[in-house]
Amino acid sequence: MNAFPSLSPTAADWTPESWRGKPALQMPTYPDLQALEDVLGQLRRLPPLVTSWEILALKRQLAEAQEGERFLLQGGDCAENFVDCESGTISNRLKVLLQMSLVLVHGLRKPVIRVGRFAGQYAKPRSADTETRDGQTLPSYRGDVINAPEFTAAARMPDPQRMIVAHSRSALTMNFVRALIDGGFADLHHPEYWNLSWMGCSPLAAEYQKMVGSIGDAVRFMETLSGAQVHNLNRVDFYTSHEALLLPYEQALTRQVPRQPGWFNLSTHYPWIGMRTAALDGAHVEYFRGIRNPVAIKVGPSVQPEQLLRLIDVLNPDDEPGRLSFIHRMGAAQIADKLPPLLDAVKRDGRRVLWVCDAMHGNTESTSNGYKTRRFDNVRREVELSFDLHAAAGTRLGGVHLELTGEDVTECTGGARELTERDLERAYRSSVDPRLNYEQSLEIAMAIVRKQGA
Ligand code: PEP
Ligand code: CO
Repeated sequence: MNAFPSLSPTAADWTPESWRGKPALQMPTYPDLQALEDVLGQLRRLPPLVTSWEILALKRQLAEAQEGERFLLQGGDCAENFVDCESGTISNRLKVLLQMSLVLVHGLRKPVIRVGRFAGQYAKPRSADTETRDGQTLPSYRGDVINAPEFTAAARMPDPQRMIVAHSRSALTMNFVRALIDGGFADLHHPEYWNLSWMGCSPLAAEYQKMVGSIGDAVRFMETLSGAQVHNLNRVDFYTSHEALLLPYEQALTRQVPRQPGWFNLSTHYPWIGMRTAALDGAHVEYFRGIRNPVAIKVGPSVQPEQLLRLIDVLNPDDEPGRLSFIHRMGAAQIADKLPPLLDAVKRDGRRVLWVCDAMHGNTESTSNGYKTRRFDNVRREVELSFDLHAAAGTRLGGVHLELTGEDVTECTGGARELTERDLERAYRSSVDPRLNYEQSLEIAMAIVRKQGA
């Protein structure tokens, strides 16, 4: 193994645009190429959204998660919308992630790495390029960075100007998250700041408040003992992630920085490639090969062990700690069949990856009244089975990846309030996939602790 893998130079045959020589799936067709070039020129000049030192700090933390010393909590919307870039939505999402991480820290007795699916989660892969309604066929909605969801020819036309809007909405989101955290919002002395209005009446409130109380006691005890404020407990870190789908946008935010070799994607800390674009010889894997960020790949039930090993060869040839995560998303019904051969192959080859469970995307179904939903029990069961299957294989589940919101939506059925299919009509707001609401999210965190707690 290379003793200084992070200093190894970028592969000689890679450039930020070498992906253009490979098949790029899920890309929009822009009608005006000159307009696209103008936008990309503007984007290349705009300031980045994150820094290389934050990226490298996260990579070190992910390396610790690989060793079982930390646990990754990655969560947020399936798709952010430009209109949802507003203070209530952002702070509620932050609150639920902070509450979940508090439950996990308390129960697992290890630090939690908090990564939002936000500040850039604007591009969506679709199963079909077009959509037909009442005899009219239009391009599919591909996320707000590409087009708009309304079913009109104008809304569905890919518009490169949306990349500039996505960059600025991402920056506004980041700015607000950073300001909240720096301003004491995430202060462990005041977990009551994170309470959502539902707290009082939730069936989970008593268990949560008990935990908060005992954390408060621990903080006060340590402060009494040391005679000083527990400064490094005051703050928590937050990192961002999104699916790196729209490669022209990602390329424009791929930069070199002073005093660091190589290239960084400075639009987000921890980009991932979705299941539909993870082909070994495809453009997305080619793009990921050359950036120094920690990267993640979604792994679905059709992936073969050999494919996974080849992906490791390409994406982490030096076996660099923290560099590569596999997010498995098999579904509760299939995970016991599909996951073990992958775990065995990676373990047998002695490869270093961070295994993460996405308990959402293998559990999507449609109701008879036309809603896309997920059953809470399947989500919880997939997380629980993941822990068991990793334990049996001698590997480690290092984190979870969830679609969730801090809002009181009714998109997934079940959970403490036993939402039914009829409840879905009440507050179904997602423009793509169904999310856990705040209460179901907290319940998943509690289920993880019950399964795995010290
Ligand atoms: C997603 O994360 O929203 C997604 C589309 O996932 P996958 O690529 O795993 O289907
Ligand atoms: Co989704």
